[in-house]
Amino acid sequence: MKPNLKIFDGLKHQEFVSLRPLIDETKAQVYIETYGCQMNVNDSEVVLSILQDAGYSLCDSIEKADLILVNTCSIRDNAEQRIHGRLDVFRIEKQKRPALIIGVIGCMAERMKEDLFNNRVVDIVAGPDAYRDLPRLVAAAKTGGKQINTILSHEETYADINPVRMDRNGVSAYISIMRGCNNVCSYCIVPYTRGAERSREPKSIIREAELLVANGYKEINLLGQNVDSYLWVNPDDPTDTVNFARLLEMVALIDPSVRVRFSTSHPKDMGNGVLYTMAMYGNICPHIHLPVQSGSSPVLERMNRKYTRESYLERVAMIRKIMPDCAITTDVIVGFCGETQQDYELTLSLFEEVRYDGAYMFYYSERPGTKASRSFKDDVSLEVKTERLNGIIALQNGISLENNRKCIGKEYEVLIEGTSKRCEEELVGRTPQNKTCVFPAKGHKIGEYVRVKVLSCTSATLLSEIV
Ligand code: SAH
Ligand code: SF4
Ligand code: F3S
Repeated sequence: MKPNLKIFDGLKHQEFVSLRPLIDETKAQVYIETYGCQMNVNDSEVVLSILQDAGYSLCDSIEKADLILVNTCSIRDNAEQRIHGRLDVFRIEKQKRPALIIGVIGCMAERMKEDLFNNRVVDIVAGPDAYRDLPRLVAAAKTGGKQINTILSHEETYADINPVRMDRNGVSAYISIMRGCNNVCSYCIVPYTRGAERSREPKSIIREAELLVANGYKEINLLGQNVDSYLWVNPDDPTDTVNFARLLEMVALIDPSVRVRFSTSHPKDMGNGVLYTMAMYGNICPHIHLPVQSGSSPVLERMNRKYTRESYLERVAMIRKIMPDCAITTDVIVGFCGETQQDYELTLSLFEEVRYDGAYMFYYSERPGTKASRSFKDDVSLEVKTERLNGIIALQNGISLENNRKCIGKEYEVLIEGTSKRCEEELVGRTPQNKTCVFPAKGHKIGEYVRVKVLSCTSATLLSEIV
């Protein structure tokens, strides 16, 4: 099925929009470095689009750059430390070339505001809702000194901007469907760095997805901090609404040969409607990233997650009832304020019970200004945090390996996304369940679907062959 290019008037003109960076060495050069989550990766693509329109061209090294932008993350202290390390590197470059403009954008810009502004190496500080202002900020920084814009918005969704895709594979792309977060999990800095939740107009999401499909993309990843609370209300008719299940269906219907993925789901908001929609469309990948954060209800309560161990497990049971082949992955924090050995063991036992296909595991890092930093003591020692983190990583590695072993002998449809880092003749792709497969190329190319059979595995990879 061809993408329906006629649904929205604007699209006919947009068919000609370039989704790739325009490389032009005669133009002013911008170098963009991105840290943090997928949302930040997509934001950098929005930023490049805005800067291309203002006459900039992307370059691939700081030495060539007239403007360096570092898109930052504040989620944990070590994420911020890495950025400070990069600013030291940029400072050396700026000493060589004083005309070089250095901008810090993203979550750390929003969180640290004046502190960053006062850093000698930084010329521009721009928060996540200030990217339309970047051309002005850059121009002003060139002539009038340092610039800052960290105003958060209740409306900004960059809906009309076509992100310029910086990835090289041209197969898989992100679409941000909402911005901000209203949840205020007590440990989390995101509501402070990204502001209030707002849902993007569905028409503009579909238009962007159709444009990607028309340009040969084969996988669309819908992004939001809590996709399940996506809700668009028509400003002219409040009875006309679109929720996440409906949006997912609309994107899935664009082209059945294009995969649709999404993250992140919130256990308190993920309803059965989304699960039934997933089950109904073969191109919505059966994988749910469902962060649990802790397996202990009292800890979940202090985290302000608004669900219990039991209600989380009920959600997992429902996913498996509706979609028995659905992969489930998670995020977890160990060593949160007041976490006892018994709380920690409850998290381990939940991991044993759910048997996740993968997990991002962290120890708690106190973030200034959050509810946890104000109300609770960060009382688990670094030594215990590290010990608990190593313990849960070891447990999950074993479970991932065991889950992967169950795939041996089975066949999966894989979308080829790249070549293997180790061997040029081998390709890499993912199963619908988001498991990474490596297999000999046999003449196949990036962007194709192939059927593979799994021969062996590690805890992270399925070693396969094309059948
Ligand atoms: N919106 C998503 C994830 C946002 S941040 C959600 O609700 O799950 C990604 C992950 O970072 C979180 O799921 C959490 O596991 C982790 N994280 C957030 N704040 C943290 C902190 N202060 N210390 C350690 N890990 C943290
Ligand atoms: Fe942070 Fe919670 Fe919002 Fe996720 S849902 S971004 S963890 S506040
Ligand atoms: Fe993402 Fe980090 Fe901000 S995880 S939302 S870039 S704090």
